[in-house]
Amino acid sequence: MTTNEPAAGGARVVAHPLVQHKLTLLRRRETTTAGFRRVMREISLLLAYEATRDLALETVTIETPLEPMEAPLLSGKKLCFVSVLRAGQGILDGMLDLVPSARVGHIGLFRDHTTLRPVEYYCKLPDDIAARDVIVVDPMLATGHSAAAAIARLKQAAATRISYVCVIAVPEGLATLHDAHPDVPVYTAAVDRGLDANGYIRPGLGDAGDRLFGTK
Ligand code: URA
Repeated sequence: MTTNEPAAGGARVVAHPLVQHKLTLLRRRETTTAGFRRVMREISLLLAYEATRDLALETVTIETPLEPMEAPLLSGKKLCFVSVLRAGQGILDGMLDLVPSARVGHIGLFRDHTTLRPVEYYCKLPDDIAARDVIVVDPMLATGHSAAAAIARLKQAAATRISYVCVIAVPEGLATLHDAHPDVPVYTAAVDRGLDANGYIRPGLGDAGDRLFGTK
């Protein structure tokens, strides 16, 4: 699968044709709730494939039905997916299709209308998160403030190896996230033009949570 690296925030854009095709289906106004949910799951599996490319392997001895052999197996740290509520749930399903044994954490944030900053209202993480590779998932990297806050919370819980997967990012969100957490690689299917006055990504795909859950 191909990635290339635009300057803004060093995001890794997954340029695979299947990812780009599915992103177009997600963007389309006429895509139904059921279709949006299904395609979000499919594109997430492909993004997870890319985001897990550097997982460490170890060699173990196994027996095939015919003979013993040395074979690679994921080693050491195991995975934890952390979904930023609520739209992160749409990505989580595809990720779990690929790595069903992964642990899952949830972080809920709302935007304080006075400070315009994210405030945490929910956080549940595995106890052993420090020993895991963590992939934070949220489809839209808009201002980057929620992403930065979620990652700060994970670091507070002693997570060290963290990456971030979204479907669409914008340069300002990537810059905010990169300034706060330069150690966190970002995987995305696209980097769009920017944010409008209401904080929506343009051209974007609308409100990912509303489209996933049919709440609009
Ligand atoms: N969150 C969304 O769901 N959509 C946007 O365009 C921006 C943030």
